[in-house]
Amino acid sequence: MNYWDEFYKTFNDTTPTLFARECVSPYSAFKISAHDRVVDLGCGTGRDTLFFISQGIQAIGVDACELAVERIKPNALHCDFGNLDTMTLPFTPTVVYARLVVHAVPLDVEYKMIRWITDILPTGGRFLSENRTVLDSLYGKGTKISDNEYVDGHYRRFLDESFLDRLREAGFMLKAMQFGNGFAVRDNENPIVLRVAAVKQ
Ligand SMILES: C[S@@+](CC[C@H](N)C(=O)[O-])C[C@H]1O[C@@H](n2cnc3c(N)ncnc32)[C@H](O)[C@@H]1O
Repeated sequence: MNYWDEFYKTFNDTTPTLFARECVSPYSAFKISAHDRVVDLGCGTGRDTLFFISQGIQAIGVDACELAVERIKPNALHCDFGNLDTMTLPFTPTVVYARLVVHAVPLDVEYKMIRWITDILPTGGRFLSENRTVLDSLYGKGTKISDNEYVDGHYRRFLDESFLDRLREAGFMLKAMQFGNGFAVRDNENPIVLRVAAVKQ
């Protein structure tokens, strides 16, 4: 049983995240507008997918966890980016939004995700992401797999600046970044995350 299949049996928080709220704020550099079409990649409970929809934004979640997808159908589709199953989206997105997802997958899957995102987005389309970094307090905890990868309850690959290089190499221009804590607060957790808004050239 995959970690996330087990996790979502008991976790069903539908409160929109701070990142999603930031993205709908009119003055945000991460701004998602009413005319955008959003794929929430690794949507989990769909809390941000459903929030975007509630704001009048066309949005669909995609996730590898069948249970999570099932809960918010028809607003989500199943897709494991490790296997890159075929998936027919109901629209061509202008934004791919991915919160705490890139750090949840190994580097080879990150490459597959980014390739898919560059293929699906039109020129000018945006990739908005938020992820834990090597400066996060959980970095170094648990079983070490490599310098960036640790398993502490579950797998995490803490990002460093090489993530930005990979985005540039994939053809993105970095439009905005936010870095630090206070962005992804949950219970007694306040991780040091990196938010990036990247525009497909
Ligand atoms: C930390 S959770 C974040 C969920 C959601 N974005 C949020 O902020 O609540 C990471 C999510 O990535 C999904 N995920 C992990 N590996 C994946 C993969 N290979 N393909 C698609 N989704 C994946 C998990 O099922 C999980 O829902």
